[in-house]
Amino acid sequence: MNNYVKIFDTTLRDGEQSPGATMTSVEKLEVARALARLGVDIIEAGFPAASPDDLEAVRRIAQEVGNPPVSEPNARVPVIAGLARANKNDIDKAWQAVREAARPRIHTFLATSEIHMQHKLKMTREEVVQRVREMVAYASSLCDDVEFSPEDAGRSDPQFLYFVLGEAIKAGATTLNIPDTVGYTTPDEFGALIRGIIENTPGMHEGITISVHTHDDLGLATANALAGIKAGARQAEVTINGIGERAGNCSLEEVVMALKTRHPIFGLETGIDTTQLARISKLVSNYTSIPVQPNKAIVGANAFAHEAGIHQDGMLKHNLTYEIMRPEDVGVNQSRLVLGKHSGRHALRMRLAEMGHSLDDAELDKAFARFKELADRKKVITDLDLEALIADEFYRPRDIYALDGLQVACGTMGMPTATVRLRGPDGKIHTHAAIGTGPVDATYKAIDHIVKVPNTLLEFSVHAITEGIDALGEVTVRVQPKDGLTKFDAQSEVSYGRVFGGHGADTDIIVASAKAYLAALNKMITAQTEAAEARQHDYGVMLG
Ligand code: KIV
Ligand code: ZN
Repeated sequence: MNNYVKIFDTTLRDGEQSPGATMTSVEKLEVARALARLGVDIIEAGFPAASPDDLEAVRRIAQEVGNPPVSEPNARVPVIAGLARANKNDIDKAWQAVREAARPRIHTFLATSEIHMQHKLKMTREEVVQRVREMVAYASSLCDDVEFSPEDAGRSDPQFLYFVLGEAIKAGATTLNIPDTVGYTTPDEFGALIRGIIENTPGMHEGITISVHTHDDLGLATANALAGIKAGARQAEVTINGIGERAGNCSLEEVVMALKTRHPIFGLETGIDTTQLARISKLVSNYTSIPVQPNKAIVGANAFAHEAGIHQDGMLKHNLTYEIMRPEDVGVNQSRLVLGKHSGRHALRMRLAEMGHSLDDAELDKAFARFKELADRKKVITDLDLEALIADEFYRPRDIYALDGLQVACGTMGMPTATVRLRGPDGKIHTHAAIGTGPVDATYKAIDHIVKVPNTLLEFSVHAITEGIDALGEVTVRVQPKDGLTKFDAQSEVSYGRVFGGHGADTDIIVASAKAYLAALNKMITAQTEAAEARQHDYGVMLG
């Protein structure tokens, strides 16, 4: 058995399904590029049958990330996969979306547990087997690389599973992915399931890759994936920061760092450049507006902080006393005090380059202007401040409405009032003043009056990025349009209201709040436009 574990990232499919994680197609492309740089083997870019804009987003990733640049025709590129339910329409759409990649894959699935077959599919075992034979064969007639997943394998009868998987192999599947869809199994059980599949599936041979796909409902996703890998699986399906529906999917950084840190017990390799983990975690968190919990393994803000006195003492004597991984191995830079008010452009460029952000001259100009503005208000600028600044300046959704000025009056003496000045898509300045229950409410009311996209604010959270009274405040919001923009979920087969997240950072939390809200609204408007354009494109294709 080989010792290489393929990393199949599904942040853009299973991850994007989590409420509020909606990304625009430009953001998806950016995440796909970052995943390719990170070294993932397979990117599941989406579920193309969900909507014309989902298909279009996968197609762009297949074209742009799934092919080597002209200057490096032999460069390694990831496989680009598209998800399809086991029906011809979905498989055709998935193929249409991935076919332009150098290494396309169709990933099709059908449930095999009694609960799913009876209540969701309303199909008998025989019908399920027949559908798997036909649809895997159909996918294989289009694409050489076909993955099949028996959904809810964790609760399926193992004997039935062996049989279905054997039929999938006969029909042409080369990867058999075993999902614990509802995060129900325990590591011993899941490891035994994988071992049983390897030993008992008819037709199993060296050319078949067994994959693990685990969910975190009981907090066991990583443990289960590792147990499956130990039992012989050689592909792990994961997401950045473990984002995904409900409690989420197995997290990429946890599996990869466990394999690396405990190499002596696993003896397995991945192709991941772990020094990029912290950065991609931040990128995905910003784009999805899903904050990473401070105590999250590997990428949480406290993962390498040693605050308890006893730990600090140990760390000073020898860092191995309490540190099993070095922060630099996952790209967390330890240097705290970086730059100050008198630092110049060159120093900023050098520091950002060391942190992995190579900016062109125009981008550096923007970053430097923001840096000077911040240095006037904050004495000490740390790496975390710089990361927040870069995220705010470059990872924000396209500005349709941009904040041009904000003035608030609040306190115990009067009514909280905000005057907001926005630059609109036409380049014109729009100003409005509103009264609210507090300064944020007043600001949002003034913004609503100008932007005019009816929505419900579902969530608002604020936290300090760095310590101290002059700390940068980071605000995350989640909004839902009232116009019924929906997203179709492949597994539950229901459409649910899309939720858009926005993120903003500033030393003034009202300004950060305004930026976060505008970011979410801009994203919502972009998604509405993309959906309309994709429908138009689809209509054009239909008319020929
Ligand atoms: O959790 C699951 O079962 C899935 C499948 C579609 C692979 O995400
Ligand atoms: Zn899943």
